[in-house]
Amino acid sequence: MSMASVAEFVDSIRALYAEDPDPAVVWPQACAPMTALLGDPELIESAKDWPVCSHENLLFYEDAEHGFVLNGLIKAPGQTTRIHDHAHIWVLYGVLTGGEDIVNFERTDDGSVSDLARVHEARRRKVGPGAVDIVKPWSIHAEQAGADGSVAVILRSEKPGGFLQGRYDTETGKYWRGKGVQQIPYPLI
Ligand SMILES: [Fe+2]
Repeated sequence: MSMASVAEFVDSIRALYAEDPDPAVVWPQACAPMTALLGDPELIESAKDWPVCSHENLLFYEDAEHGFVLNGLIKAPGQTTRIHDHAHIWVLYGVLTGGEDIVNFERTDDGSVSDLARVHEARRRKVGPGAVDIVKPWSIHAEQAGADGSVAVILRSEKPGGFLQGRYDTETGKYWRGKGVQQIPYPLI
């Protein structure tokens, strides 16, 4: 399958990387192309066939030169991610269909006790189709799908799997690091 809107989005991101490959510079400028992508009726229609994910992402595209990837995450009604960070990478999270709560957490301990982290909910936003969220490195967060489930399109500055990401359990205070979500090849271009 070759989807024009996805090819256009990838071209835009590659052009931004060619200007300045620092994701801190690219990411704010990537919001407009992501918004355009999320508005494509063909992509929205195609998403109806995408399989629900649990701890994996669909891998729509991987850029051989710059290393960024475009993922899809399809949540069932009420499905929530674990509380996590993405380590050093930058993520641009876009809601294609459905509704979600995006929840941000703050860490209040100094990290001096290994395997423990104290985090509390700092912000919760209800978002719908077309919402775009820049997730900065080390930002602690979770996303919960609403009653209709949700589909997200996610730009990551690096493919998960090659580095460890933080996981947090607010009830026990446990902190651990694990490999990121498994990547299921699902090329859209
Ligand atoms: Fe995340």
